[in-house]
Amino acid sequence: MEVFKVTGNGALSGKVHIGGAKNAALPILAASLLTEQAVELHNVPDLSDIRSMVAILQHVGAQVDKIGDGHWRIQAKNLSHSAPYDLVRRMRASVCLLGPLVARKRRAEVSIPGGCVIGPRPVDLHIKGLKKLNCQVEISNGYIHVDAQAMRGGRVFLGGRNGSTVTGTANIVMAAVLAPGTTLLECAACEPEIVDLCHFLVKMGAKIEGIGSPELTITGVERLHGCDHSIIADRIEAGTFIIAAAMTRGNVRIEGIAPRLLGAFLDKLEEAGLPLEYGAKSIQVKAYTGSLKPVDVITLPHPGYPTDLQAQLCALMTQTEGISILTERIYPNRFMHVPELQRMGASISIEGPSAIIKGSSSLSGAPVMASDLRASAALVIAALAAEGTTWIQRIYHLDRGYERFESKLAAIGGRIERLPASAIPAELLHDAQ
Ligand code: EPZ
Repeated sequence: MEVFKVTGNGALSGKVHIGGAKNAALPILAASLLTEQAVELHNVPDLSDIRSMVAILQHVGAQVDKIGDGHWRIQAKNLSHSAPYDLVRRMRASVCLLGPLVARKRRAEVSIPGGCVIGPRPVDLHIKGLKKLNCQVEISNGYIHVDAQAMRGGRVFLGGRNGSTVTGTANIVMAAVLAPGTTLLECAACEPEIVDLCHFLVKMGAKIEGIGSPELTITGVERLHGCDHSIIADRIEAGTFIIAAAMTRGNVRIEGIAPRLLGAFLDKLEEAGLPLEYGAKSIQVKAYTGSLKPVDVITLPHPGYPTDLQAQLCALMTQTEGISILTERIYPNRFMHVPELQRMGASISIEGPSAIIKGSSSLSGAPVMASDLRASAALVIAALAAEGTTWIQRIYHLDRGYERFESKLAAIGGRIERLPASAIPAELLHDAQ
């Protein structure tokens, strides 16, 4: 087990380059199963979730080779239709195997993905969508069993009580591209990662209209062919570094990301008074004096404020002058970061799906525990502005979605080290018990 040792020591400064988007790369890796020809992917981030997906693709019979940094070649000549529990349980996104297996094999057996700390992760909309494509679906022994011999295009509405579903949209699109007839997918997710998946599928020969809108029209084709594709930049990694720069009143240039991918997020930071400048593929966070203003945020499906940047903003709002309210409409319990931030001195209370954050908290270093991927990033952000040293345990959560997080932060002045857990002073752990 490893830990991060972070010492707050002033403003970050310099340039950071944003890598490929985890949440685009995962469904696109799964979509590579839709053809028996070779697919080449570039700008794939080096993350433990990516390695988990590679293992699953290999298990179902694909040849998967790493050609170079971020460059992978996948060829799925022969495929089995079953994705086993011990691989699927590690990562929710493995549910994205459903669509391609149904499309290629006309049958699938995929373990129901486990829940996680951010809340229940249902798949009822995925199943509803497959049934609307005339698939027989049943759940037994913890697996989703799909018989798609009679699959055909149909009308699918994917809206649930919290809006659309990102991986559910991915699954239905990946099934429909090889389904006879036409599929009208309404209330589809519009996240940039779904747009990138659709662009990838069109390169493979799929027929998809309405890309980027909540209404997709998919005309099934006989087969798809190989292609070459570069994964879009990771807007959530970019937002994380923007907040880290703002937390330390630093001067940091975020490179390789188009500002339009972060519309609602940047709008909120401008409302808080953060000085920002934009290029075609860059965002400059400028140093400021004084404090940012508090903001109220409700997380929503894209183009609304992304839930994956809620925890990071929560850390930043502890430093404003006033009270901020962050309300979760996607995962109402996604506040695992709050008790850990409170250990560092933050004044936050939880009222139902909202975190009420009193600003002007002086944060001090403490031993804290990482939990979900984005909550862990929030702890690092808080530690960068805290007095003294913070020890962050269970950082494997971070390694799921951030490539070389500590080295990118250190390169812009962050005092952060990856150490063995034994490096934590015993007296600190004793106090923490
Ligand atoms: C994707 O998860 C992302 N993961 C998540 O990012 C992200 O937080 C989430 O979308 C929301 O934007 C990947 O893309 C791999 P959903 P997904 O299905 O697809 C409810 C990260 O940190 N719902 O869009 O699993 C669900 O409970 C991760 O990178 C149903 O009710 O999320 C939630 O409230 C965390 N029934 C809402 O919809 C369903 O069948 C959105 O879930 C499916 C979902």
